[in-house]
Amino acid sequence: MKLKALKTTLSLALKKTPRTTSEFEKLPVHVAIIMDGNGRWAKKHHLNVSRGHRQGTENLREIIRHTDDLGIKALSLYAFSTENWNRSEEEVSALMQLILDFFASEIDELDAKNVRILILGDKGRLPERQREVLREAEKRTESNTGLRLNIAVNYGSRAEIVKAVREIAVTVKNGTVRPEEITEQMVSDHLYTAGQPDVDLLIRTSGEQRLSNFLLYQNAYAEFVFPEVLWPDFSVHDYDIALEAFGRRDRRFGGRKRDADSE
Ligand code: FPP
Repeated sequence: MKLKALKTTLSLALKKTPRTTSEFEKLPVHVAIIMDGNGRWAKKHHLNVSRGHRQGTENLREIIRHTDDLGIKALSLYAFSTENWNRSEEEVSALMQLILDFFASEIDELDAKNVRILILGDKGRLPERQREVLREAEKRTESNTGLRLNIAVNYGSRAEIVKAVREIAVTVKNGTVRPEEITEQMVSDHLYTAGQPDVDLLIRTSGEQRLSNFLLYQNAYAEFVFPEVLWPDFSVHDYDIALEAFGRRDRRFGGRKRDADSE
């Protein structure tokens, strides 16, 4: 590690107050988070798994606020995957309730802060109340121009890609597009995140190191950071450390190392 990077890491470790934008050399435009470890946190504290998810939701508020304060443009959160339906009925209904509670308590502040909410995933399988609340949140904030807050609910990335392929296939079938005219941009434009930049930084808490079907296309050139901390314990300070790590990465997008970095 270079001396400058080491100094920054040390000062960051000592200074636990939230950092401000100017204290970062480089910030990601789009951050994605896999909020993992709620179950293990609950077990560690001899609590029911639902309490782990509740604690994780409490934590989320601070992380969203800090993302907004730093001026990061987009934040994507993996709240409920298509595979999460396989969990116990009790856990699924606790998560569904948390979605309602989260929007009931946060929507006013998010809207006031000009945050635009977008739900990634198929709302069709969700209970009616959740569907309504999510649609309302999207509608209410659709003309907001601040932070793009994407919340993945009943989301699976492969299903999202299949949806995009089907939509493009229809345009080919009706003669609007020729197969050779299909571009990477066109595929991006048919994903839930259409019009948003690709992910720059993917954070997965709890030490697990996999993507679990989250934003596969959008994460093509993302930098990955895997903090060991369980999601309910993931603080703004831990977030700053992950953002700092991103700032030190040398992103080449398949190109050559820049001269300045080989000094
Ligand atoms: C993974 O932990 C986490 C989830 C499956 C759900 C994450 C959801 C929230 C934090 C709250 C809901 C979000 C919103 C926006 C209202 P895990 O249970 O798989 O943890 P484990 O691997 O330790 O068991």
